[in-house]
Amino acid sequence: MLDQSTTPTYDIEDAVLTRYQAGAKEHEPSLCCPTEYQDVHYLDVIPDEILTKDYGCGDPTRYAKEGDVVVDLGSGAGKNCYMVAQKVGATGKVIGVDFNDVMLDLARSYQQEIGDKIGFYNTEYVKGKIQDLKLPLDKLQAWIQENPITSVEQITNYEAEADRLRSESPLIADESVDLVISNCVLNLVKPADKKQLFQEIYRVLKKGGRAVISDIVCDEVPTDKIMNDPELWSGCISGAFLEVEFLQMFEDAGFYGVEILSRETEPWQTIDGIEFRSMTLRAYKGKEGICLERNQAVVYKGPWKQVQDDDGHTYFRAIAWQFAIKLSTF
Ligand SMILES: C[S@@+](CC[C@H](N)C(=O)[O-])C[C@H]1O[C@@H](n2cnc3c(N)ncnc32)[C@H](O)[C@@H]1O
Repeated sequence: MLDQSTTPTYDIEDAVLTRYQAGAKEHEPSLCCPTEYQDVHYLDVIPDEILTKDYGCGDPTRYAKEGDVVVDLGSGAGKNCYMVAQKVGATGKVIGVDFNDVMLDLARSYQQEIGDKIGFYNTEYVKGKIQDLKLPLDKLQAWIQENPITSVEQITNYEAEADRLRSESPLIADESVDLVISNCVLNLVKPADKKQLFQEIYRVLKKGGRAVISDIVCDEVPTDKIMNDPELWSGCISGAFLEVEFLQMFEDAGFYGVEILSRETEPWQTIDGIEFRSMTLRAYKGKEGICLERNQAVVYKGPWKQVQDDDGHTYFRAIAWQFAIKLSTF
């Protein structure tokens, strides 16, 4: 990831928005990498128009469970949402978040048809930036129409309204979600907002909730040439996470049990000798706080001599450990 000092001079958000507005209208084959989905029967009810405008790079959908409330960050045409909708069933719910009206319109245009086919209507598509999941952009837009900003002084009113909306009608409320998924979107967020992005994922998850994210990672820091190419940024390359950094961002936001679920052996692209590939990882929320004595013992069976957990406990092979553990969802 870029640090602040190397942030490109072009407007990253504008480059991303423009590219995916076009990608919602016409299929763009070069955007993001081909993916195999596990539960392919869920694709049967999804119209071709959505299937062809799939710009994902992994399959986070397979980790949804019946009854889950799921948020899909950067939901695009809605393919992942419509797959998960079937998986979570009538008792669950899926909220797709995107900042792109053209994609939102496309996804929404099939809600009725797909709901009719599966027998329930449990999808919702909302306009927001994934790094600011409190701010409902439709409501803010309506306010701006009523209160046009024509002077610097009025920016203060705009900022006050945005803060009011964040606190009084958040787009996604605190601790309201069982599972956050995302497919090839986190890399697109500008460097200055990436830390807040992970904090937002953490905020919206319930205690015990989990994030399953498919995204593009790289094995070396991208060169300046790559960084300064808006096509490569919007094409999911320049903003790719260094592999170790991707996991660290989750840990820094408070997640635990961070696990690589899949990592493509073959790179999707190699540019300037740097390999860019798809990775899917899972991370949990909800283990913070003091350790509690629960009268439980653990025996680590191997094959390694010893392993260490996220709390710093070291388990030696075949030696029973009795200790105070933190509440865990494992
Ligand atoms: C690579 S596409 C992936 C779409 C979808 N997840 C899929 O698998 O087909 C990226 C999507 O994320 C949206 N997006 C990019 N940056 C965003 C941001 N900061 N906030 C909200 N949506 C964003 C784009 O408009 C686009 O629909």
